[in-house]
Amino acid sequence: MADLVADVWEVMSTARTIRRFTDEPVGDDVLGRCLEAATWAPSGANAQAWRFVVLRSPEQRAVVAQAASQALTVIEEAYSLTRPAADDDSHRARNDRATYELHDRAGEFTSVLFVQRRLRLASDMLLGGSIFPAMQNFLLAARAQGLGACLTSWASYGGEPLLRDAIGVPEDWMLAGHVVVGWPKGRHGPVRRRPWQTAVNADRWDAPAPGIT
Ligand SMILES: Cc1cc2nc3c(=O)[nH]c(=O)nc-3n(C[C@H](O)[C@H](O)[C@H](O)COP(=O)(O)O)c2cc1C
Repeated sequence: MADLVADVWEVMSTARTIRRFTDEPVGDDVLGRCLEAATWAPSGANAQAWRFVVLRSPEQRAVVAQAASQALTVIEEAYSLTRPAADDDSHRARNDRATYELHDRAGEFTSVLFVQRRLRLASDMLLGGSIFPAMQNFLLAARAQGLGACLTSWASYGGEPLLRDAIGVPEDWMLAGHVVVGWPKGRHGPVRRRPWQTAVNADRWDAPAPGIT
């Protein structure tokens, strides 16, 4: 039974990353809703200079699996990640096991590549601001429908040329991000974040904002 949620606050606060998926395919109807929600996001000058490429043919999944494997090598080094021992049942080990499961099974899932056209004069960061909201809308729409999703770095590192080539992305389009989507094996749950007040300042960099509660 899909864990459907309509309340926007609950959607946002429980859209935790899901890395373990069942074998049930993601239907065109639910996927279409996520993609439509992505297009409701703002972009600079409402340019909507984006493209969302759904990757689900066996050929493209094989490329995604290759990209995931390359990213995993980088992630392992960056975060000192290693495969947990079979008898380790700690929180960390369970998380790490899910990360390995996602990367090992990468070729079995549906995923979406988010691509942004370069625009004259706009910095990469500014262009990112025109497509990251679309990715977040996609994630929230996935959560609302009970789907699980994981943002990945597979379109970076060595995966970028592989995906560019396999999909035929033109030179003047940037690979902005990649999201795996599927029906969760586990459950959605609350996101774990530092108290929001620790990220907020009033007027000056070091000034707290005690009045805002
Ligand atoms: C830009 C970006 C890249 C990410 N890349 C990966 C990835 O390659 N593999 C992975 O397992 N998770 C990846 N994640 C998921 C993050 O690890 C996850 O969002 C973060 O730990 C917060 O966890 P939560 O979403 O469950 O709250 C990525 C997230 C972002 C925003």
